[in-house]
Amino acid sequence: MCGIVGYVGPRQAAALLMEGLKRLEYRGYDSSGIAVLNGQGLVVVKQSGKLSALEQQLTGRTPTGTVGIGHTRWATHGPPTTTNAHPHTDQSGKIAVIHNGIVENASAIRRVLEQRGHVMVSDTDTEVLAHLIGECYRGSLEEAVAEALREVDGAYGIAVISEDEPDVLVAARKGSPLLLGVGEGELFVASDASAILAHTRSVVYLDDGEMVVLTRSGYHVRDLAATRIEKPINQIEWDLATVERGGYAHFMLKEIFEQPDTVRDTLRGHLLEDEGSSRVSGLNLADDEIKQFNRIVITACGTSWHSALIGEYMLEELARIPVDVEYASEFRYRNPVVDERTLVIGISQSGETADTLAAIREAKRRGARTLGVVNVVGSTIAREVDGGIYLHAGPEVGVASTKAFTSQVIALALITLRFGRLRNLSILQGRQIIQALKALPEQIQDILDRAHQVEALAERYWRSNNALYLGRGVNFPVALEGALKLKEISYIHAEGYPAAEMKHGPIALIDENMPVMFIAPKDAVHGKIVSNMEEVRARGGQVIAIASDGDDLINRLAASTFTIPETLDLLTPILTIIPLQLFSYYVAVRRGCNVDQPRNLAKSVTVE
Ligand code: G6P
Repeated sequence: MCGIVGYVGPRQAAALLMEGLKRLEYRGYDSSGIAVLNGQGLVVVKQSGKLSALEQQLTGRTPTGTVGIGHTRWATHGPPTTTNAHPHTDQSGKIAVIHNGIVENASAIRRVLEQRGHVMVSDTDTEVLAHLIGECYRGSLEEAVAEALREVDGAYGIAVISEDEPDVLVAARKGSPLLLGVGEGELFVASDASAILAHTRSVVYLDDGEMVVLTRSGYHVRDLAATRIEKPINQIEWDLATVERGGYAHFMLKEIFEQPDTVRDTLRGHLLEDEGSSRVSGLNLADDEIKQFNRIVITACGTSWHSALIGEYMLEELARIPVDVEYASEFRYRNPVVDERTLVIGISQSGETADTLAAIREAKRRGARTLGVVNVVGSTIAREVDGGIYLHAGPEVGVASTKAFTSQVIALALITLRFGRLRNLSILQGRQIIQALKALPEQIQDILDRAHQVEALAERYWRSNNALYLGRGVNFPVALEGALKLKEISYIHAEGYPAAEMKHGPIALIDENMPVMFIAPKDAVHGKIVSNMEEVRARGGQVIAIASDGDDLINRLAASTFTIPETLDLLTPILTIIPLQLFSYYVAVRRGCNVDQPRNLAKSVTVE
């Protein structure tokens, strides 16, 4: 989703802004722009489309100046045109604003400003905000921004500069991520650390309601009411190499192939082999507290919601505790039954998804304990929950989530081990799970070593317009995730379904043009899924199967089979998903799609 980068220092801003925006490209965007103070005044250059279009605009006329702001926009108010692109300026044309999020009372503010003679040229809420800041300006940009934001409802991460104060950049956040980068004699703001990582690893994470004022001599953080706030400087642990493609054609492929390592990294330090349990001290939960919970709600969006469903199977089966999985966007607007004995777990790769954050806040308001299963260290959800577990999967850049998914399932398995051992799980079962978890990285590697087989499958099916993914039990969520991967990046319409439920509708769609992907490892429901496969075959559907090594029966029934090594039933999703990720990838590449930045999607959805 939208990206922000800003600079105050001795170097030329435009090049740094463009470099930062490129690092944010992966978040998804449809237009971009920069504004630079060049000593005489404000220069704004913006353009619809990809950053290369903006670069073209800048060729030969890059604005000089050492203070500036840059933005990639993902349209919310108004189409992705050049006029709607950020930065937006105020009535005087002296103040420039970039903004992530949504100003909910923009139309009301627009009406008042227009009555006072303001003329706005775009459809955006951001231009309204720029005009409001201009209206509040009485000699101090800092105060004007604070005053304007006191009028604003909704979510924002903003950065503002003004011709009248050529050495100042003001930024603020509420509900949309923003951090300050502290370099040597220079300062940055960004919505995502990767934008500034080439220049500094020292960052200050802003919290909701906070503003930061950057000048050539330093910075200060305050709230909208002018109270100064002391904030710690954090060091980012990963480096630029981790966010680069490293020889792979796409980030998605790199991230799929990283999974033996990322799974290992998520497990690292957490397994208590002798006790058949796990040590997850970040949960901040004593044994007695864990025993008190009578229900768990897991809330998330997208791929994270699919891992939540797998968590439900694991926790109910092994810890015998009732679990409900809720879309965060639904949970937050219902009247959910949640109290002090409910544990609410939010799963989010980015830790910034607006709906998941809001769901966590709602749960806290109602007295629930909250945990986060989060990848991005220092993200808002990670900071707001009562405890949690980091995935340590490293930055995920491909919009379609892959390595975060497998690590989320691992993290949920670790939580399950701990909860299970306090409730229902024997030490022997615990040890068996630990052995199986430890074997996973090599088993994933075995699958990846046979990626060419999946590529051959993709070659056979890439022309299809539809696909059905079917699974049972813990592999039903894998069917959902496999279908999501395919539609996200190849734009093929795909649906995931519980295999038996197919009879109640999707079976009507089956003919010789419909590939049906069965996720059918040798598990407790193997016999049942074989029957479902027969039903599809009887109607001429083309069966593709993900089956266990040596499963001759399925090999005979399916038109194409890819096999995976055996593991415990509940851990099969970590293996069955790998060929499905690869399948989507190869199909999308074959169809000429933009794998890492699929149309209309954003990596981190920071608006509702
Ligand atoms: C977006 C991404 C998905 C992701 C979802 C939830 O839609 O494109 O890949 O699964 O957001 O994101 P989160 O960061 O909360 O896991």
